[in-house]
Amino acid sequence: MKSSARQHFQFVRDYLLLLSLLYFAGCVSNGHATPKQTPFNNTIPALLVFGDSTVDPGNNDYVNTVFKGNFPPYGRDFTNRVATGRFTNGQLPTDYIISYMGVKDYVPPYLNQSLHIEELMTGVSFASAGSGYDPLTPTLSNVVPLQKQLEYFQEYRERLEGAIGKEKTDDLIKRSMFLLSAGTNDFALNYFTAQLRRMSFSASNYEKFVLQHFKGFIQGLLSQGATKIAVVGLPPMGCLPVIITSNTIPLTGRQCVERINSVSRDYNTLLQSELRHLQSTQLNKETKIYYADIYGPLQDMIQNHQRYGFEVVSSGCCGTGLLEASFLCNAKTPVCLDASKYIFWDAIHPTDRAYYLIFQAFRPLIDFIIEDLTS
Ligand SMILES: *[C@@H]1O[C@H](CO)[C@@H](O)[C@H](O)[C@H]1NC(C)=O
Ligand SMILES: *[C@@H]1O[C@H](CO)[C@@H](O)[C@H](O)[C@H]1NC(C)=O
Repeated sequence: MKSSARQHFQFVRDYLLLLSLLYFAGCVSNGHATPKQTPFNNTIPALLVFGDSTVDPGNNDYVNTVFKGNFPPYGRDFTNRVATGRFTNGQLPTDYIISYMGVKDYVPPYLNQSLHIEELMTGVSFASAGSGYDPLTPTLSNVVPLQKQLEYFQEYRERLEGAIGKEKTDDLIKRSMFLLSAGTNDFALNYFTAQLRRMSFSASNYEKFVLQHFKGFIQGLLSQGATKIAVVGLPPMGCLPVIITSNTIPLTGRQCVERINSVSRDYNTLLQSELRHLQSTQLNKETKIYYADIYGPLQDMIQNHQRYGFEVVSSGCCGTGLLEASFLCNAKTPVCLDASKYIFWDAIHPTDRAYYLIFQAFRPLIDFIIEDLTS
């Protein structure tokens, strides 16, 4: 490798380490959305969400971490242009799902201690940007580990029990839709960037290691009464702008990193067989675990971007689009004019429009789960 290329790699790696290790002492002021309430349907009481930034509506606002998105330009295209802590310019797939269910307009973050009981009862997200299944991953940015998200869920149950009683709470949990979206940070941040696990694991062994932790988590959810759980797989991680930047030599063209995409595909294959195995060992016949494919839809958007009206696929809308995310994408960063022409908002996270299309791709599955829950 030429020394300039090596310097470039080292710069990118140092930058990413900085991103993951720096802690902001003070919080940037945060706003909030005031969703208009839709009358809720009673068919499915709630959507309960766990995972990382793809489904974190602002829990990190309440956590001492550098991984925050509660300042402009985040939220630029959200209702009232409010930066809520969502790592995108608008809504997350789970916001689209919960409005589609007719429950309410947005999934609020559980760590907002002021949520009313009705808001709790209709669904919250426990997810935390930067988190992952590997217990080491959330420590890189001091965010909420998945195990801790499970403890918050236990606390959530107790709060509901205090308000509506145990029987109603159990019933509500049983009839709710659960969604779990994590894993990208384990590979893209921990394994391939910080390279902490790379000394001791081959990629394929690390896939198995992550899956073991995933399994422990989902068993925890099941033991707490979840019966319908959708599990989102890994996206084509080699196409994340920041991964392209750190794995290609500048000026040779920005292409998805196939080696890293193949890790996503291998993991997704293992995940699906794990889900089938988990399903087959459930004694409770009502329990259903579903796989939600995000790889296919995102890959299709990237490969056939013209068909979707996307003009930029390999860099984000914020800043240079090559590296910026979280605090490096801030009020002083130049931002593209029309984010709907971009697949990525920052160097890691999709735009509102890409998230909407992902929701559309999930719809047949959502319909299936709704049917299952209401039959
Ligand atoms: C927290 O929830 C309360 C109750 O819904 C809401 O009024 C408040 O705006 C939320 N806080 C933030 C920062 O979003
Ligand atoms: C109830 O749910 C159905 C779909 O299941 C939806 O079409 C309808 O708009 C919802 N009703 C309300 C009042 O939200």
